[in-house]
Parts: sequence; C-alpha cells; structure tokens
Amino acid sequence: MELFCVTQPGLEAILAQELEALGCAGVAPTVGGVTVAGDLAEAARVNMASRVAIRVLARVAEFRAMHLAQLDKRARKVDWPSILPEGARVKVEATCRKSRIYHDRAAAERVAKAVADAVPPGDGPEVALKVRIEDDLCVISLDTTGEALHVRGHKFFVGKAPLREGMAAAFLMQMGFDPAAPVPVVDPMCGSGTIPIEAAEMAAGLWPGRSRGFTWEALGVARPALPDPRPVPPLFHGVDRDQGAVQGAAKNAERAGVPVAFSRGAISDLVPPEGPKGIVLTNPPYGARIGDRKLLFGLYGALGGVLKERFAGWRVGIVTSDPGLAKATGLSLEPFGPVAHGGLKVTLWQAMP
Ligand SMILES: C[S@@+](CC[C@H](N)C(=O)[O-])C[C@H]1O[C@@H](n2cnc3c(N)ncnc32)[C@H](O)[C@@H]1O
Repeated sequence: MELFCVTQPGLEAILAQELEALGCAGVAPTVGGVTVAGDLAEAARVNMASRVAIRVLARVAEFRAMHLAQLDKRARKVDWPSILPEGARVKVEATCRKSRIYHDRAAAERVAKAVADAVPPGDGPEVALKVRIEDDLCVISLDTTGEALHVRGHKFFVGKAPLREGMAAAFLMQMGFDPAAPVPVVDPMCGSGTIPIEAAEMAAGLWPGRSRGFTWEALGVARPALPDPRPVPPLFHGVDRDQGAVQGAAKNAERAGVPVAFSRGAISDLVPPEGPKGIVLTNPPYGARIGDRKLLFGLYGALGGVLKERFAGWRVGIVTSDPGLAKATGLSLEPFGPVAHGGLKVTLWQAMP
C-alpha cells in the first residue's frame, strides 16, 4: 500500500526528513506531502509519531476513468467491505484536474453511491474518502487520521494567534534542534507555549498523538506500542507579558507531562537562562492577525536589540508573515519558507546575532 502524508506546502522536505528518521520506507516528497510505503499499521504509527504531518491518506484504489459511468463501474469493483468497517458513515470528497471528468461533486456522488451499495451506512464510524482525478487517473484514498494531526490531544489552552504545533516542530527541526542532544529553547513571546512544549516533547521522545483518537482505530488496526519516554533536562523556557497566556501555557505543559519553565515578562527584560547557549525561536504578533503594524515595528526593533546584546552565540529564529517587521529587528536574517498558515504565508527568519 502507499501512504500519502499531507503537510503544509513548504514543509515537505522537513516532513520527509522526519519520516526517514522514523524509519519509514520509500520516502518520496512531492507537492503538499510525502509518499511512504506501508500498510494501515504503518499509517497508525505515522499518525501517532509524526509532528509535521497533518494527515495520513492510505491509497485504496487506482484506475482510469474517462467518464462518470466508467467511474461508477470501476468504483464498484473495489472490495469496499474489506476496506471499510460495517455501517461506516462515509464522506466522499472529490477533486478533478486536467480530466474529462471535471465535475467534483458529480464524481464524489458516483463514488459515494458505489460505496454505500457495498457497505450500507449504519451506526458505524465516520470515515472520509478522498477521490482525486488527474489526467483521467482516479486515485481513491482513505483518510486514516480524522481530526488534523496538529491537534495534540493534551493541549487545551489556546492563546491569541497560536502557531500550529506541526509548524513549531518543523521550524525547530529546520533550526537543527536535535532531540537526542537537546539544547536550551527559549520563546520570549510564547503565548500558549507551543514552541517550548514541542521542543520538550521532542527531547522526551514522546509521540505527539499519544493522547488523542484517530480514524484508524475504527479500521481494526492495533494501537502501536508507545516508546518509553526519556528524562528531560530543564532546558525549555517560555516567557510572555500576558499573565493569562503564561498560566495557560503552564497548564498545557503539565498536561503534556513535560517540564517547561514559564514566566511573565516583557521582551525588554529578557535575559538568557543560565547554562549553555541554545535556540531562541519565537512567533511575535504580526499585523495581519493581532496588533497594529506601526506599533509592531517598535516591538520587533526591541526584540532584535535584546537578542543582539544579550544572546550572542544563540541560534535565533523569528516566525512572521511580514518581511518588513523581520527587517525591523535589525538582525541579519535568512528566510526559510514561506509556509501556508491559516490563510497567511509565514516565513522563518533565521539569524546568528
Ligand atoms: C502570535 S502570539 C504567540 C503565539 C504562540 N506562538 C502560540 O503558539 O500560542 C504573540 C505573543 O506575544 C506576546 N507579546 C506581545 N508583546 C510582547 C512583549 N513586549 N513582551 C512579551 N510578550 C509579548 C503576546 O502576549 C502573545 O502571546
């Protein structure tokens, strides 16, 4: 079977590296995701262990279809009862590109009817099938994930304009954070604590999906055994000027079972923690979402000044959608990205002050 691990455009190469490190076979990045070889058990493992994937689709059928009657006939040849649980309530989504079948909804309806005739819907689990018709080739995939993977089951407090967990992890990986030899990670504008919590979980070797549910559980796949967590050194720090954010972030870390030190403070008061140098990775407010752009120039300037003066030798990463604000830090920055993020395109700007 072939599995397609979806991620945000821009993160494909990082996801491919992560999947290689997880021991996946046949890792091949492509636009919007990474293909790997494997069965449903492998899909379950990737769902549980990957931080950068958003969902895992298992390819269940592939055939040529030149017109709707042919789509219908060939969809009926698929052994749906061996693929879907009894009584499954199946949702079919279709996209057609460069094909004689061009009507997404009509294609979805044909496949849905063929599936429902083979597996009558009842009180079974909800399952999503994705139909993609490109150059008259129809590929049908089963979504093994359910709710998108960036939703970690143990994170309840969400602050203003949170960074997606998968992006925080991907940017840490891009900055060379090595879970086997962790260095300190500081986020001076940590909001709900996404960045230091992801870093601490990575260092602990905890699987991000350990406390949530997935569609694959309804498909008769056994839950993979979780790896034993490693002890985590006290290297992870989150600071925010908002007391509510600091409290919520501390609760998130507690539920995740990882040690992250959170404190309240403004960027102007930031000092490096004692001990070795490491990574400052932060996602300051950006105008398109919160705050007024003009005021933000001052904030980015202050951030750049503090990092230059007090964090010599630290690796610095600033995540923003606004190149003008990144420039206002006064740091010499290299862009990585952009990566699509909730209707915006954000870039990781990296510096070594
Ligand atoms: C975009 S949010 C960060 C979101 C975070 N990455 C998350 O995933 O939840 C920006 C944060 O910067 C904080 N902030 C704004 N100005 C600050 C300042 N001068 N000093 C410290 N924190 C500040 C805000 O309180 C907010 O929590």
